[in-house]
Amino acid sequence: MYSDRINALPPYLFAAIDEAKDEMIAKGVDVIDLGVGDPDLPTHPHIVEALREAVLDSNTHQYPSYAGLPQFRKAAAEWCEKYKGIKLDPATEVISLIGSKEAVAHIPLAFVNPGDVVLYTEPGYPVYKIGTLFAGGEPYPLPLKAENNFLPDLDSIPADVLKKAKLFFFNYPNNPTSATADMAFFEKVVEFCKKNDIIAVHDNAYCQMTYDGYESPSFLAAKGAMDIGMELYSHSKTYNMTGWRLGFAVGNKALIKGLGKVKSNVDSGVFDAIQIAGIAALSSSQTCVNDANLVYEERRNALIEGLKAMGLEVKPPKATFYIWTPVPKGFTSISFAKLLLEEAGIVATPGVGFGDAGEGYIRFALTKPVDRIKEAVERMKKLQF
Ligand SMILES: Cc1ncc(COP(=O)(O)O)c(C=O)c1O
Repeated sequence: MYSDRINALPPYLFAAIDEAKDEMIAKGVDVIDLGVGDPDLPTHPHIVEALREAVLDSNTHQYPSYAGLPQFRKAAAEWCEKYKGIKLDPATEVISLIGSKEAVAHIPLAFVNPGDVVLYTEPGYPVYKIGTLFAGGEPYPLPLKAENNFLPDLDSIPADVLKKAKLFFFNYPNNPTSATADMAFFEKVVEFCKKNDIIAVHDNAYCQMTYDGYESPSFLAAKGAMDIGMELYSHSKTYNMTGWRLGFAVGNKALIKGLGKVKSNVDSGVFDAIQIAGIAALSSSQTCVNDANLVYEERRNALIEGLKAMGLEVKPPKATFYIWTPVPKGFTSISFAKLLLEEAGIVATPGVGFGDAGEGYIRFALTKPVDRIKEAVERMKKLQF
């Protein structure tokens, strides 16, 4: 019944985790879910209020424009200049997104022909691979290893793969490893992509979720990046707006146009009222973002302290709300996740769910209040491993 492309999809590990979690809840276990990367904090009130006003205005009720409201694109460009130091033409170098996931899925359709290789960092967001497969491309994962600070080794790619490579997806601050990248790495990516005629796509979904004064740079601020690249931004994690489905892509004019060509044929843009609320998020004070980061920071510290006390090797991340830690000796990522769920009622995501290169690790998402995280730590301390 299903197409070959659907039949070729890898099994969805996250559905199996959900099932196991529901079984535990049905048994009456008080489950602490640190699995999903979805902020538990509500969308900030001024954004909700902006939506309320916008939705009452019937001018927002018709089909939106494909590329996004001009005022949304202008607000996005201004935000990028103010917080990321990059100058963009809102008319040609910015496009609205129904969340950054749709861009990741659609970008290969715009640029990849059957047989073209798509490079992507692994462990990583699963859609880099799935979007590639849907476009008939060949996914080529670049493993992220602790000894390389979870940056890919671009020099390790065989020449025959490089010859066929068309696109490169990368993501810093990184989900799931929480690693960050500096300008020197981004400059290396520009050089690599220019030399090999590859389109660079930087997924910047976590760029504002930062701690200890760290500021995450834009890939497009690297010299020459605008010639070959685009960058994806999302309201989801920055403003606790995962359910709203809003983001924007910025970068090279021809690349933005290519993505727009796919989008105008498969979707009809973002509800205008949501874009107007999105402008409120971008254009008002960013104190709400800093406040949320302080909440995550307290949770991060509580979890790190607990994991260290158990003898697990883990460094406090500078960004993202993920803790990525090696599983204890003798476990696979799945067997450790199973132990946590069955013996401690804790949901965490096995690293292998982010690709084979994630084996040996587990990811905790800091998406529960600090008292629940402390409770999770107490439960874990009682485990034997
Ligand atoms: C690395 C990464 N990219 C993109 C996304 C998609 O986010 P959204 O579609 O909500 O913008 C996520 C969501 O978890 C993510 O972790």
